[in-house]
Amino acid sequence: MEIKEITDGIYAAPTIHWDRRLFDELIPLPDGTSYNAYIVKGDEKTALIDTADPSKQQELLDALEEMEVDINYIIANHAEQDHSGSIPAVLERYPNAKVLCTPKCKVMLVEHLLINEDVITAMDDGSTISLGGKTLEFVHTPWVHWPETMSTYLQEDHILFSCDFFGSHLATSDLFVKDKPEVYKAAKRYYAEIMMPFRNAVRKNMDKIKVLHIDIIAPSHGQIYNEPEFIIDAYRDWISDDVKNEVVIPYVSMHGSTAAMVDYLVDALMERGITVKPFNLAVADIGELAMALVDAATIVIGTPTVLAGPHPSAVYAAYLANALRPKTRFASIVGSYGWGGRMAEDIQGLIKDLKVELIEPVIIKGYPKEEDFKMLDRLADDIFKKHEEIQMKK
Ligand code: FEO
Repeated sequence: MEIKEITDGIYAAPTIHWDRRLFDELIPLPDGTSYNAYIVKGDEKTALIDTADPSKQQELLDALEEMEVDINYIIANHAEQDHSGSIPAVLERYPNAKVLCTPKCKVMLVEHLLINEDVITAMDDGSTISLGGKTLEFVHTPWVHWPETMSTYLQEDHILFSCDFFGSHLATSDLFVKDKPEVYKAAKRYYAEIMMPFRNAVRKNMDKIKVLHIDIIAPSHGQIYNEPEFIIDAYRDWISDDVKNEVVIPYVSMHGSTAAMVDYLVDALMERGITVKPFNLAVADIGELAMALVDAATIVIGTPTVLAGPHPSAVYAAYLANALRPKTRFASIVGSYGWGGRMAEDIQGLIKDLKVELIEPVIIKGYPKEEDFKMLDRLADDIFKKHEEIQMKK
């Protein structure tokens, strides 16, 4: 790892995990990720902000040693292991260091990482410490991503160390944002997977940081923003209540009947000027699916009937969409059965947390026939009308 100076006395220590391909054994990482620690040197004291995933702790320790720095404070913005998992090893190397975090984070560091509570000091919202010419302010920003999360604001240099907030899973050798479209996509994927379930909390935290003069946002995943408005504007769009004229269709088909329905529906929606994003769940990247759900007005789940219920892949997609709680307004279901079942009812039961209006599903027997395609035209018409109604309300 190479420690890089951001500005006078402030350094980034990003551990780049180039080949990590899965997070939480759930989230695909097509672009790898990074765990960014930061070092702030004052005239009297030095603070380390966040650490690294435990699998990379040696890289961080070696870099700190090479820098010949003494660590007086370890700031834990977030207790999750990818940022705090190396704190025990850092404490072993710097036994006089004190860990500073939110009161909730203190409990979590003790419970999850078995850190001795005597070395942890809980910091109130808005409290500060001085390193000598550098003042760190602790801004509690709960639920970005866990209930204990905070951001650390460096008052003199106007830098917000935001941890997961505004982060992106992106392994790159560039410290600062260089390729904006690439970073936008990675940050949107990250928002969809990590932040979207907490959209209201994200909104409150956006309001809270609005009063700060921020020149740089330094998250603990991905690149640093030296034009903070770029990511702040993107977040404002994602957390808004506005939805787009888009339909997301996660689907699975066993013998081609449901796929034929989806193909027809995709064309019918496109003919009506609606953007359509179908995801064949047999091959789909669920991160792409999550990202599509950030803006879409409607989700249509396509599934055949298997042993009286939905296909397990469709169950997974419905459960995931329900857990991610996108701002989607409408939902429907399409699919085929052989001899009966309760597939549509089961899917409806899985998406109860989505605040959606259900548009009448199209469930057919066997391969779609002329009358079935007419029902899909009716569904496309219904979706078109619903989207128009929303636009009229705006
Ligand atoms: Fe990057 Fe919620 O940890």
